[in-house]
Amino acid sequence: MYAQLVETGLKNVRSLDEMSPEERAFQARIDDGVKIEPKDWMPDAYRKTLIRQVSQHAHSEIVGQLPEANWVTRAPTLERKAVLLAKIQDEAGHGLYLYSAAETLGVSRDQLLADLHSGKAKYSSIFNYPTLSWADMGAIGWLVDGSAIINQIPLCRCSYGPYARAMVRVCKEESFHARQGYDIMMALCKGTPEQKQMAQDALNRWWWPSLMMFGPSDAASVNSAQSAQWRIKLFSNDELRQRMVDQTVPQAEYLGLTVPDPDLKWNEETGRYDFGQIDWEEFHNVLRGNGPCNRERLQTRKKAYDDGAWFRDALVAHAEKKQTAQAAA
Ligand code: 3HC
Repeated sequence: MYAQLVETGLKNVRSLDEMSPEERAFQARIDDGVKIEPKDWMPDAYRKTLIRQVSQHAHSEIVGQLPEANWVTRAPTLERKAVLLAKIQDEAGHGLYLYSAAETLGVSRDQLLADLHSGKAKYSSIFNYPTLSWADMGAIGWLVDGSAIINQIPLCRCSYGPYARAMVRVCKEESFHARQGYDIMMALCKGTPEQKQMAQDALNRWWWPSLMMFGPSDAASVNSAQSAQWRIKLFSNDELRQRMVDQTVPQAEYLGLTVPDPDLKWNEETGRYDFGQIDWEEFHNVLRGNGPCNRERLQTRKKAYDDGAWFRDALVAHAEKKQTAQAAA
């Protein structure tokens, strides 16, 4: 993928002879598949892009809990409620692993959260859409977590050790998330016509925003080429998006649902699905903060952070007291 990106001359990639001897040695380790660890020398730009990506990934996990939390008290059965709670709890854990991985790069948790709350740092656009029915819990597990798995599995082999290792556990839990989502969709599609229509309505609303999760097109991506050279990104945005389409269309057909894309069709020649144009104006509008739920999501996160200040202070006071007692002993 890196060679193809460099070939097409995408932004920011420098050739080896433009690098310093240290950077060349670093790149050689990357090219040999060596995992970079926190104490290893790394270019500032490598550190910076990892802090950017890993922290935004962590923010996505934490903000991603909010759309689903809306349906915990409305789950149709106790079992569905328990499964949804377990999933939401997993997402909190994913956020913690990822914040911890980001902290190994020399940035504080408080700084990362301040960047989220100020709007300086992003989180995945997908979490700025409302969850209007129980079927959205199915569509989110099936499509959003399904997309996340496709994007995250390659990250288990990325060049930065703490990030790659965090991803191994995250991916194992994500597969449960996707399965429980598809199970909800199956139950609805086998139910009454109204329930099946609810599932179709959810697919109609979540299909395109899920494809946007993979980022802009390769030609428009500002970070892909450099991330590919540093083996942070092992496959391009478009390649992973295509995998999502190819994997999900047969699943929609099995449910008896229609993917909301009139241009979707199997391409015998490529052995992949051709699909319609993504509405990049919508994508950039959501990234600019104008999605249906952007304000609400950030307000909720800021309030949770403020409401939790007493608990963080108590933890720090307890730890300091313990430390003083140990020092005096
Ligand atoms: N939402 C918000 N911002 C997005 C985005 C999206 N769907 N797609 C791209 N962007 C942003 C990028 O962050 C970048 O902005 P920045 O430079 O200010 O950070 C800009 O758009 C250009 O995009 P690029 O493709 O050039 O940027 P990247 O190389 O970073 O690729 C990415 C974007 C594919 C999202 C990559 O960052 C990535 O793979 N991140 C790790 C996975 C991740 O964060 N997934 C989010 C969902 S997590 C999730 O779903 C949890 C699950 O449990 C449900």
